[in-house]
Amino acid sequence: MSDPYFQKLFAERIGGVNYGKGTEIYKFEKIKRAKRKALSEHPERKLIDFGIGENDEMAPQSVRSVMAREIDQLANRGYADNGVAAYREAVARFMQRNFQVELDPATEINHCIGSKTALSMLPAAFINPGDITLMTVPGYPVAGTHTRYYGGSVFRLPLLAENDFLPDLDSIPADVRERSKLLVLCYPNSPTGQVATRDFYQRVVEFAQKNEIVVVQDAAHIMLSYEGAPLSFLQIPGAKDVGVEVHSMSKGFHMIGWRLGWVCGNARIVSAFADVKDNCDSGQFIAIQKAGAAALDDEQIPVQVKQKYERRLKKLVDTLRRCGFSCKMPGGTYFLYAKSPTGLASGEKFETAEAASQYLITQHSICTVPWDDAGAFLRFSVTYEAPTEKEEDELMALTEARLKQIQPRFE
Ligand SMILES: Cc1ncc(COP(=O)(O)O)c(C=O)c1O
Repeated sequence: MSDPYFQKLFAERIGGVNYGKGTEIYKFEKIKRAKRKALSEHPERKLIDFGIGENDEMAPQSVRSVMAREIDQLANRGYADNGVAAYREAVARFMQRNFQVELDPATEINHCIGSKTALSMLPAAFINPGDITLMTVPGYPVAGTHTRYYGGSVFRLPLLAENDFLPDLDSIPADVRERSKLLVLCYPNSPTGQVATRDFYQRVVEFAQKNEIVVVQDAAHIMLSYEGAPLSFLQIPGAKDVGVEVHSMSKGFHMIGWRLGWVCGNARIVSAFADVKDNCDSGQFIAIQKAGAAALDDEQIPVQVKQKYERRLKKLVDTLRRCGFSCKMPGGTYFLYAKSPTGLASGEKFETAEAASQYLITQHSICTVPWDDAGAFLRFSVTYEAPTEKEEDELMALTEARLKQIQPRFE
């Protein structure tokens, strides 16, 4: 088949003239294919799905009721632009109540259509060709992708177990620091589950001031914090002078598909974000923002979401430990990041986490997400579908039986 005339018109950032012709299969597509294979070859074997990174429940009834009411209001019909006051004010109350962070709803908070979009837009406010974004790996790559779209590059900061999955800021070479404009962090960290400490955040503020770098802290999982109260970057003295925190309604409120979040912190950075956003979208549907405001004002919702995933993570840690994995309760997120097996009792060897993950899916219908960026790890998500605690326990028992049968080895 000959190429369409526009094949030569595709931008380099998406592959240029070769766009659509690559044969490389991306990680999540490989997992999807392996899942399909396991289901078709072994329909009798229940798929144990630790691969999904999405809440398994819908938003609470109280939030859906507000949505049902607001959807009928004439006043909510139009463009929301940079957001309604009711949502910004609910965010300000939420940040005050949970983190004792004072924010001016008019200038220091702006909504976004999910935190993914905010992370994609913030580089537009700072990155010129040649500039650098410092990003932790493994991690959520969106801000890095857009940095490259603007002609910048990404300097990777590996998250290693021996450094408690915190980046080593001192290891960044001077010439990289000079060209860096953004430091993108994510705590509680996806996928490692690590939570940040005050001490680490203090060092980040000092680093940012000294090197004149803007901090973007991705707090998508913040309400899923298991070691005491959740910690916001903005609680640290000086943080508001150097950056913003990006929040999401997705994980902590079971509102994944609703597409709502916010950027908060430094007023000038929030305003730059709002200017870029204003040129990209016209705001989230006002009824959704009002339902989001109701969710933020309900203290019980994030507590219940947290309790559920904490309970499931504890069960998973116990189960995997009984099968030879060395893992501990993560500080946050709904992910367990565990060292990948290097082989099995049968003698089978795995060079990478990806090889182990493919084996587990295709041979035993256990789906995980592999990470080989900084050591070989498997990410187990506890967002599997199990409507009752009894079903959770049955799923754990099934996982244990299958893993004990193959006896994973860790050298
Ligand atoms: C670390 C992290 N940040 C941000 C997001 C984006 O979340 P949302 O766009 O639903 O707010 C995700 C979603 O998976 C995530 O894992």
